[in-house]
Amino acid sequence: MDIKKIGIVGAGVMGGEIAFVATQAGFPVVLKDIERRFLDIGVANARQIYEFKVRRRRMSEDEMEQKLKLISVTLGYDELADADFIIEAVPENLDLKRRVFSELDAACSPGAILATNTSALSVSAIAEAVSRPERVAGMHFFNPVSMMRLVEVVRGARTSDKTMSSVCALAEAIGKSPVRCADSAGFIVNRLLCAAMLEAARCEREGLMSRADIDSALIKPDAGLPVGLFKMADQLGIDLIHKVMRILQDAFGDRFAPPEEVERLIASGHLGVKSGKGFYDYGKS
Ligand SMILES: NC(=O)c1ccc[n+]([C@@H]2O[C@H](COP(=O)([O-])OP(=O)(O)OC[C@H]3O[C@@H](n4cnc5c(N)ncnc54)[C@H](O)[C@@H]3O)[C@@H](O)[C@H]2O)c1
Repeated sequence: MDIKKIGIVGAGVMGGEIAFVATQAGFPVVLKDIERRFLDIGVANARQIYEFKVRRRRMSEDEMEQKLKLISVTLGYDELADADFIIEAVPENLDLKRRVFSELDAACSPGAILATNTSALSVSAIAEAVSRPERVAGMHFFNPVSMMRLVEVVRGARTSDKTMSSVCALAEAIGKSPVRCADSAGFIVNRLLCAAMLEAARCEREGLMSRADIDSALIKPDAGLPVGLFKMADQLGIDLIHKVMRILQDAFGDRFAPPEEVERLIASGHLGVKSGKGFYDYGKS
């Protein structure tokens, strides 16, 4: 692995957290977004995670400020020209991701690795937008990136062995645990998670058990999930879950169609924790 500088395109929920884990490991990072206010949010997110560590006395304020100095921000592509590794974390939309990849292709060094943090889209389809698809791989972090160690490293149809090894090595260098997987909709975790969420919704609809009971059973020590399925959907965002289920439905058929409960939440703008209400009420809407 010869990665010295990391670019992150999209300073949202994932971009800000990825900036934290990368700078924590000592990598200089350039965050790119389309408006200054989104960059501010991304940097503020990274700062918030550092401040939590300072409060817990895991790092001094000076160390935090040194780490934060590793983050620079930009609205253009010029600052990414000398990055060895760029990860895209823009919204889950194939056309948008392809546009970003074709812009990266023109702006970045020919040796740079281009990764996508897509949750469920085809890495091969995104890689079609660039002239060097062997340099493209999926690097799927989980939310919150600062706490979740797993990273799915996805091999597209033309991803080279060297690119796969470099992405896995980078994941390890920033304290993550990579698992290699094929370029199949939803990869490993989201495919299995969506299947479980759909079944949980069916159990509740059939009147067999309440959502609170389902969630509480899954987080009992022996079941081992950190959070129940309905609560997890609220935390991830009902809009993201809906999008991922639609992608899985296109790939594998109607067994993955978003359930009516999810459609209803989307129609009424209840997107989970971020909007104050989803499967549960967070008292903000
Ligand atoms: N949120 C999650 O739980 C989660 C988990 C794993 C993977 N993902 C994936 O990560 C990606 C990003 O998700 P998110 O939740 O961080 O989204 P988000 O909406 O919080 O952030 C996306 C950011 O991208 C910016 N953006 C939009 N167009 C851009 C462009 N052309 N150039 C640069 N920036 C642009 C937006 O302004 C925004 O700041 C998606 O593909 C999503 O599926 C999300």
